[in-house]
Amino acid sequence: MKFFVDTADTAEIRDLAETGLLDGVTTNPSLIHKAGRNFLEVVEEIAGIVPGPVSAEVVALDHAGMMREAEILRRIADNIAVKVPLTIDGLKTCKALTADGTMVNVTLCFTANQALLAAKAGATFISPFVGRHDDIGFDGMQIISEIRQIYDNYDFRTEILVASVRHPIHVLEAAKIGADVMTAPPAVIRQLFNHPLTERGLETFLADWQKTGQTIG
Ligand code: E4P
Repeated sequence: MKFFVDTADTAEIRDLAETGLLDGVTTNPSLIHKAGRNFLEVVEEIAGIVPGPVSAEVVALDHAGMMREAEILRRIADNIAVKVPLTIDGLKTCKALTADGTMVNVTLCFTANQALLAAKAGATFISPFVGRHDDIGFDGMQIISEIRQIYDNYDFRTEILVASVRHPIHVLEAAKIGADVMTAPPAVIRQLFNHPLTERGLETFLADWQKTGQTIG
């Protein structure tokens, strides 16, 4: 399963990239606003930190406008995935861009039927938002299972990118279902490393090692 980080904070991205476990980055207009930096500049910097896909989202709502913005975004670096919304114009844009060899991440997906449309449009990634679904009382992870089944039925190559991840259980469930990618805020990725028994066990081992009076090397 690939791990993407959902942020435009370059310090966080650099820090997580050093683990060697980061496969890509997703951004959206809200995350760009939060970062408080120029969109094109920050995306270019991110694309230089992480060799994997870096999603950069268009803001036009019509096909022609999306294509104009996509042209600018895809010229930033070879690892840019143009992010388009799951609308008719977004999927038209997806089809045109992927036919031309550009990676496309179709975002704001909330049903398996929408994911089916994105796959038919040749999307590189489909981003179902599990957390936002949970927020309104639905089981977001159910949609991931449905999409997995549909994509496997028809051998679609579109990667399921589980988005709007809020906690480690989302990551666990997504991995059990066989999602291809998950994108999570930096804090959630860091939580995955931690367990109190790991910390306690390490303390005990080190205390006992001190008592041996030995060193390695
Ligand atoms: C995905 O690409 C989105 O940027 C993101 O996961 C949205 O998450 P949120 O619902 O926490 O804003």
